[in-house]
Amino acid sequence: MILLDGAATAKSIKLEIASEVEALKKAGKKIPHLAAVLVGEDGASMTYVGSKVKSCEEVGFASTLITRPASTTESELLEIVRQLNNDPDIDGYILQLPLPKHIDEHKVLLAIDPEKDVDGFHPVNVGRMMLNLPCYLPATPAGIIELLRRYQVPTEGKHVVVIGRSHIVGLPVSILLQRNANPGNCTVTIAHSRTNDLKSLCASADIIIAALGKPEFVTGDMVKDGAVVVDVGITRVPDPSKKSGFRIAGDVNFAQVAEKCSYITPVPGGVGPMTIVSLLMNTLSAVKKHR
Ligand code: GUN
Repeated sequence: MILLDGAATAKSIKLEIASEVEALKKAGKKIPHLAAVLVGEDGASMTYVGSKVKSCEEVGFASTLITRPASTTESELLEIVRQLNNDPDIDGYILQLPLPKHIDEHKVLLAIDPEKDVDGFHPVNVGRMMLNLPCYLPATPAGIIELLRRYQVPTEGKHVVVIGRSHIVGLPVSILLQRNANPGNCTVTIAHSRTNDLKSLCASADIIIAALGKPEFVTGDMVKDGAVVVDVGITRVPDPSKKSGFRIAGDVNFAQVAEKCSYITPVPGGVGPMTIVSLLMNTLSAVKKHR
């Protein structure tokens, strides 16, 4: 079994990005500037945004964190989006999801300038991804593809079962894996909560992408020998033995599944760090495109 070490891979990609930033600096060009908007006090979202900002510092990007209370109105958030769209110093920005319930997420995402949408969530970028046109790819699916690429995991002709049909992970990773590309050229099945006999379906998969958000859902009996398993889950599970009071659990029962796999991602240290570097890579490409 080979561990798909997202933490180590992300570290080396960050070094690559940092040297590109140095080169921009030396050439007297503007350094990339990423902004993140966080509405509300959700603990997990605060942690994710904190890691994104910290990663910007590590590679030499400028970053701006805009935090607002959960009571922020939709029109106040739309005004922040308008200002970020018009700020020439900001190359790209993200709105951390989920937004509070009283805000229409689709309406706010539509207001983002697609050229600054480094999360790849705007319908223009989603459509361009579908058509295989240049675009910002959503960070988690792009991170998974990059991890498979760097480990040269064979994908051509393989049957992939993606568990989960979210707009952020399941659906876009399905699109990317079926493309005529490497990694790609897979035969993809998208499974979800209404799928019949998920166990047999998974047992027939060469590659499983677990992105449903249910801790340790994928068990050893669901995986065939030699399968590749990518675990996208990051659920906080109460754990009194930890100082924080919780541990991070993936969607895969690692102990049971790892021994059957050819490749597997750990949690933490698998897909999570790759998501962050994808965002950095998108921001770097935003700078190259515009300047
Ligand atoms: N919430 C969960 N995943 C993501 C992500 O990749 N980007 C943003 N903006 N919010 C998220």
